[in-house]
Amino acid sequence: MDNAVLKALRSRRSIRRFKPGQISDAELQAVLEAGTWAPTAHGLQDPWIVAVQKPELKERISKLNASVWGREDFDPFYGAPTYVLVFASRPEKTLNGVPDGSLVLGNMMLAAHSIGLGSCWINREREMFETPDGKALMAELGLPEELQSGLMGVGALALGYPAHEAPAPKPRKEAYWRVIK
Ligand SMILES: Cc1cc2nc3c(=O)[nH]c(=O)nc-3n(C[C@H](O)[C@H](O)[C@H](O)COP(=O)(O)O)c2cc1C
Repeated sequence: MDNAVLKALRSRRSIRRFKPGQISDAELQAVLEAGTWAPTAHGLQDPWIVAVQKPELKERISKLNASVWGREDFDPFYGAPTYVLVFASRPEKTLNGVPDGSLVLGNMMLAAHSIGLGSCWINREREMFETPDGKALMAELGLPEELQSGLMGVGALALGYPAHEAPAPKPRKEAYWRVIK
């Protein structure tokens, strides 16, 4: 079988170099809205999505991510013009924060690809937002104040216009699935 969605699933690749221009507001909105259509446990729409385009804030996010990683010489967001951070409830409240947030990120990556944008999942948000600097940063992201202490970082996207061709994908591993009838 084949259709536009299946083609997009196969052809999306992580993009790690971006053209310098900012994406349009309409493109950003399409990506963010796609995130909101992800399924969530009990339909609670627990995750929160924060897109960051402000250079000063992006720099702090990159630096904090790099320092948590122990690679201060490197921009973990690959110079992307837009960062998208996803937060969800901590395990003390629900064990669904990571799956919920991951599906939001997955929807956004696929949506980005479908409209010609490039994206890459950037890790370490959980660790970043556990640090005092991360907590201070979180307070500047416009999240509801009363919820902030109950939230954790799930993941982030580097987002922008791709500056390289999609790399050839690794072949899918042998016997990735089985069907028991
Ligand atoms: C949970 C998760 C964490 C990831 N973290 C990073 C990361 O920190 N930096 C990065 O460059 N890529 C990261 N990636 C992207 C993977 O390396 C990439 O999806 C994988 O190599 C497959 O390539 P593809 O996305 O092009 O199919 C992450 C992907 C996932 C799902």
